[in-house]
Amino acid sequence: MIIAIDGPAGSGKSTIAQAVGERLGLTYVDTGAMYRAVTLLALEQGISLEDDDALGSLALELELEFSESAQGAPRVQVGGRDVTNALREPLVSQKVSYVAAHRKVREALKLRQRAMAEMGDVVLEGRDIGTVVCPRADLKVFLTASVGVRAIRRKRQLEEQGIVVSAKTLEREILLRDSHDSTRSIAPLKKPRDAVEIDTTDLSIEEVVERIEAEAAAVGSDRGGSC
Ligand code: DC
Repeated sequence: MIIAIDGPAGSGKSTIAQAVGERLGLTYVDTGAMYRAVTLLALEQGISLEDDDALGSLALELELEFSESAQGAPRVQVGGRDVTNALREPLVSQKVSYVAAHRKVREALKLRQRAMAEMGDVVLEGRDIGTVVCPRADLKVFLTASVGVRAIRRKRQLEEQGIVVSAKTLEREILLRDSHDSTRSIAPLKKPRDAVEIDTTDLSIEEVVERIEAEAAAVGSDRGGSC
C-alpha cells in the first residue's frame, strides 16, 4: 500500500505519518528532509540558492539514508553523517523553500521518492506527493490546521532540540513558507482532488491516525503499488 500525506508546514504531517507507518507496518518517508538535506549541503558548501544546475547536481548526488535510533525515532544521514538535528536548524528552515522551487532539484528528488514508494508499503509525507510524486497512491490525505496551532507545534518541536524561537516568529516564517510553497510554478502545494482532507487544529494525534487507518481499510490496496 502507498499512502500520500500532504499539507502545509506544521499541519502534523511528520508526527501523523510516523504514527500511521507504525500502526500499519509501512515505511515512513519524510520527503521534506530530502529538500532540507540539499539546502543544508548548499549552505555548507557556499552554493548559491539560485544556481539551478549546482543545486540539481547536489540533489542527484545526495547520499541520503533514513534510519531509526535505538528508541525508534527517525534519523537522517547524509554521506554517513547524522544530520537529523541540523536539518531543523532555523537557517535551513528559512531557506529550504527557495531550494525546493528549483526544477532540477524537484526532478531529481521526485525520481528518488518514486523509487522508494514503489518498493511498496510506504507512507510518504510532503507537499506534492498526491499531486505529482504518486498521483496513483492508494490513499491521499491532505492535512490542514490553523496557522496559530501550526506555529505552536513547530515551537515545541524545536524546543525538544534545545532551539528557542517565539511563536510569532514561527508564525511569520510558516506563512512565508506556505506562500512560497503554494505559489511556486513547479509542483505547488495544493490539495489533490481526490484527497481526504483533515483539519487537525482541534484533533489529537490519535484521532487523526484513527481516521487515516479507517480510510486505509476502506480503500484497500488494489492499484498495483505503482505511483
Ligand atoms: O515538511 P518540511 O517542513 O520538512 O518541508 C521542508 C520544505 O520542503 C518546505 O518548505 C516545502 C518543501 N517540500 C516540497 O516542496 N515538497 C515536498 N514533497 C516536501 C517538502
